[in-house]
Amino acid sequence: MTEHLLSVRDLSVSFDTPDGTVSAVNGISLDLAKRDTLAIVGESGSGKTQLAFAMLGLLARNGRSEGSVRIEGQEILNLPEAKLNKVRAERVAMIFQDPMTSLNPYLKIGTQMAEVLQLHLGKSKRAAMEDAARMLDAVRIPDAKRRLGMYPHEFSGGMRQRIMIAMALLCRPALLIADEPTTALDVTVQAQIMELLTEVREEFGTAIILITHDLGIVAGSCERTMVMYGGRVMETGPTDKLFEAPSHPYTLGLLAAVPRLDIPQEDLLTIPGDPPDLLGLSGGCPFTPRCPLAHEPCPQRMPDLVSFDTDRKRACHAAREDVHR
Ligand SMILES: Nc1ncnc2c1ncn2[C@@H]1O[C@H](COP(=O)(O)OP(=O)(O)OP(=O)(O)O)[C@@H](O)[C@H]1O
Ligand SMILES: [Mg+2]
Repeated sequence: MTEHLLSVRDLSVSFDTPDGTVSAVNGISLDLAKRDTLAIVGESGSGKTQLAFAMLGLLARNGRSEGSVRIEGQEILNLPEAKLNKVRAERVAMIFQDPMTSLNPYLKIGTQMAEVLQLHLGKSKRAAMEDAARMLDAVRIPDAKRRLGMYPHEFSGGMRQRIMIAMALLCRPALLIADEPTTALDVTVQAQIMELLTEVREEFGTAIILITHDLGIVAGSCERTMVMYGGRVMETGPTDKLFEAPSHPYTLGLLAAVPRLDIPQEDLLTIPGDPPDLLGLSGGCPFTPRCPLAHEPCPQRMPDLVSFDTDRKRACHAAREDVHR
């Protein structure tokens, strides 16, 4: 049996707060092999970022994770900080929503990039600079050598996101987690960044997890999609099938919110109602109060994540035939 690149089992994340325990992620499992692409989609607060943080041991101090996260066979939960740092630097890289939070505004891009290579791969300054220039080239930043001498603020938002991707790839990680990498960017630049991620995967064989609230950018860029709500998986499967025939009322709602050329922007549907209160989660399905198909068992019991169509799974008490546009 081949070892999965990433294997998550029954992962839960909770936070201690003055108001009680917040359950941000509830019993999530997933597997990723080399070169796989997975989109994690859900509205704000559905637990996407905390799931990624837990996988990398990056939770805030009041956070706790339970379950198992294995990266290339190594258990990540409760790994000592030094070993964790090594995994994070060399095997799995994450890019964050706002590039300015992870770029040092006072250091030239080249210096920042070279430091990573000197520290983790023991390269000389000169070799590191050459690698950095090559990587900027790979993410299609023109005139890379000269740009190494520039500061982060001298780049546009799209360029900074490219630099973040270049930084993340410096140590050739096996897995890249991109958390809302295009949210702050305009649509054209969004498309370019998505294209770049696809190229990165082809060129370096990197597996990619793309976190987004926007189902619209998922089609064509990720083979599989996992839809989250209230810290739980609502459905998961091949992206094209999920678009063609969503199996969960929540996915249906997300799809209705995807802009289409034939529908005026102002007519876009949003799912009525508020996100769940993660403090007072009952044992039921968190989507119940907003679900058009909610019925008797839904508020009482969370449905199991059940397989169908060989490669799909859904967690919903409603009949599949009743979920359609
Ligand atoms: N340190 C913390 N203490 C308490 N609650 C937290 C903490 N960090 C996150 N949460 C809560 O966990 C829940 C899930 O947050 P998460 O950041 O994963 O959402 P998300 O799906 O990434 O949303 P967005 O699309 O807005 O980024 C939210 O309700 C959030 O308020
Ligand atoms: Mg987030």
